Amino acid sequence: ASYTIVDKDTCIACGACGVAAPDIYDYDDEGLAEVIIDDNTGTSPISDALEEDMLDAYEGCPTNSIQVSHTPFEGDPYKIE
Ligand code: F3S
Repeated sequence: ASYTIVDKDTCIACGACGVAAPDIYDYDDEGLAEVIIDDNTGTSPISDALEEDMLDAYEGCPTNSIQVSHTPFEGDPYKIE
C-alpha cells in the first residue's frame, strides 16, 4: 500500500493536486492542500484504484509538497527520507 501527506509549510496553494486526485486531496480555508482521507496524517493506505491519481498529483506538484511512501507518515511529512 501507499501513503501520502502534504507538507503544508511548502504548499503554495497552486491547486494542481486536487485536480489530479480529487478523491485524495482537498484544500483548507487558506487553499492549502491536505489529504482528506486521514486528516493529512499520512496514515491511511491509498487504494489501488487511486494510486495512479496520487502519483499524478505527486509528480505535478510544483513545490514537491506531496510526499508518498510505502510506510505510514504518522503526521510527519519528513518522517521518511
Ligand atoms: Fe499545494 Fe502542491 Fe497541491 S503546491 S495545492 S500540494 S499541487
